[in-house]
Amino acid sequence: MKFIDLFSGIGGFRQGFEKQGFKCVFSCEINSKCREVYRENFGDVPFADIIKINPVELEDFDILVAGFPCQPFSICGKKLGFEDTRGTLFFDICKIIKIKQPQVVVLENVKHLIHHDKGNTLKVIIASLEYLGYSVNYKILNAKDFGIAQHRERIFIIATKGKEFNFSRLKSKFPPQLREFLDETGDFEILDKSEYTLIDYPRKQDSGLVFVGYRNKGTWKTGVRPNTEHLSRVHRQPNRIYSVDGVHPTIPSQETSGRFFIYIPEQDMVRKLTLKECYRLMGFPEDFKSYPSAGESYKQIGNSVCVPVVEAIAKEILGGFNRSVLSGVFNADFI
Ligand SMILES: C[S@@+](CC[C@H](N)C(=O)[O-])C[C@H]1O[C@@H](n2cnc3c(N)ncnc32)[C@H](O)[C@@H]1O
Repeated sequence: MKFIDLFSGIGGFRQGFEKQGFKCVFSCEINSKCREVYRENFGDVPFADIIKINPVELEDFDILVAGFPCQPFSICGKKLGFEDTRGTLFFDICKIIKIKQPQVVVLENVKHLIHHDKGNTLKVIIASLEYLGYSVNYKILNAKDFGIAQHRERIFIIATKGKEFNFSRLKSKFPPQLREFLDETGDFEILDKSEYTLIDYPRKQDSGLVFVGYRNKGTWKTGVRPNTEHLSRVHRQPNRIYSVDGVHPTIPSQETSGRFFIYIPEQDMVRKLTLKECYRLMGFPEDFKSYPSAGESYKQIGNSVCVPVVEAIAKEILGGFNRSVLSGVFNADFI
């Protein structure tokens, strides 16, 4: 089974699909630093700008995967669908789909895509894929349900020839604790006790996060009533400290300094999450070669996709193909 890896970044999708035995036959990524990391790890250099791809020249493939940038569609007064995607990068994905007609398309984006442009963006995406001959289904998946200690919600839109992809077949796991993903020794950046404040009664939030305190720097001191320190608006996100007894908050893409601080109760210690631990929290392998500059690496990993989530999807796609072969039906069976 062959796939192409569009907007590949540093190759999160590729790892998940390769683990399930799929073969990557083409990749594309405009950022030269991501392309360098991709080449170091996978041995080939992605094509640069998707706009310049001539779909006719691509080798045939079964699956198209893309963690594409989210842009609004201009839909004023027009019918929703393929025609309305012109001028967006999604249109370039559609151009390839139209000509190559892969069996499955897997798209990933931020959760907010659902509300983007008052829901129009998602509507146009679905209508366009349907227009191109696909059944479309989507779901928000959270990394913490796939064996990773990170609360990371992303929308996955899956278009299939034949029956709809059935998300309920994906096996979810009980969320692990952050402590299982940490190094015990290392050159850690430890905060002095004067640099943070712990709250009196930390508790696990529904998201699985355990907010335990905040860095003193940059907290809003005025108007904060005693015992309301845990309320989200009081402490800016970067200053919050979470316990290793819960999961980690989303590792963001616009992060270049690695501002994540964690609390280890048994050592009564607050330290920074290391870059290596960030990669682990995205399901990347221990021997993954990251970019030489830490700032760039933090950005790249935050932009990436959580590998075990993608792998679970790849596994289910493979299962769908196998079932369709067994039943003698040409189109993949995703029920
Ligand atoms: C959300 S990231 C996807 C990351 C990827 N899934 C991974 O595992 O690292 C979107 C990527 O699209 C790339 N991109 C943006 N415009 C592009 C274009 N015109 N052609 C190719 N890639 C582009 C960005 O550089 C960025 O790395």
